[in-house]
Amino acid sequence: MLETVTATRFAVPLREGGSLPGLVDADDLGMYVVKFRGAGQGLKVLVAEVIVGEIARALQIPVPRLAVVDLPRDIARYEADEEVQDLLSASVGTNLGLDYLPGSFGYDGSRPASPAQAAPIVWLDAFTANIDRTWANPNLLVWGGQPWVIDHGAALYFHHAWARRAPDAAKFVAQHFDASDHVLGDLVDDLRPHHADLASRLGDAELARIIQLVPDEWLETSDQLPDAAAVRAAYLEHLTTRRDHPDAWLPGGAR
Ligand SMILES: Nc1ncnc2c1ncn2[C@@H]1O[C@H](COP(=O)(O)OP(=O)(O)O)[C@@H](O)[C@H]1O
Ligand SMILES: [Mg+2]
Repeated sequence: MLETVTATRFAVPLREGGSLPGLVDADDLGMYVVKFRGAGQGLKVLVAEVIVGEIARALQIPVPRLAVVDLPRDIARYEADEEVQDLLSASVGTNLGLDYLPGSFGYDGSRPASPAQAAPIVWLDAFTANIDRTWANPNLLVWGGQPWVIDHGAALYFHHAWARRAPDAAKFVAQHFDASDHVLGDLVDDLRPHHADLASRLGDAELARIIQLVPDEWLETSDQLPDAAAVRAAYLEHLTTRRDHPDAWLPGGAR
């Protein structure tokens, strides 16, 4: 399970992308960047943040610590901004928090990543079909001289189809990744030499452990996926199948 903390104060909205994350104080005296359950993109975005963030950690890519942030009803009452107040009211309960990295700045190439730092990040995005790490939207922070990955809500896009049709791992396997727009794409010529090592850190048990970190209540069921265990099994099948068949999706692989 992810650690759970309780929000004590909403500090400030971070109006960058569309999802209106906010900076929140918590009862462990930490500050968290919170992705709100009521932000409009739904709970699946939070699920992708957990699974992809923790896959990054398993690959030893720097990624902020994740926690479940419980939002009490009172917090919305003290908020003057109406848009924020609505968001907080819609987000009472469990939300996703990322440990705030004070003094970090957005990756702009002024301190370029090394090829050794870049390769696992581009591979992570290829593996999880994360298209949201481009120059327009780097979703990389520089902190302590290293690039840290954030913002994985757009990855694992396949799960948005689950409300309408049966999970289809074979389709995900065949979803090719185009690294040409990736913010670190120029630093990595060919991902194929990296695949065996990175994939070996994501064994079946490790992927199952990561998927188990998602709170039950964020896993939306459907006719084909009647309970949380079935939803977790579907994520596991998608990820293990894609891991085992890189030729279909890995940049530089057979197209
Ligand atoms: N852990 C963090 N520490 C410091 N700043 C963060 C952190 N996470 C996000 N931010 C800041 O908040 C902005 C928005 O976060 P992000 O996860 O990219 O959400 P979105 O793009 O959906 O708005 C980032 O571009 C970054 O400036
Ligand atoms: Mg972003």
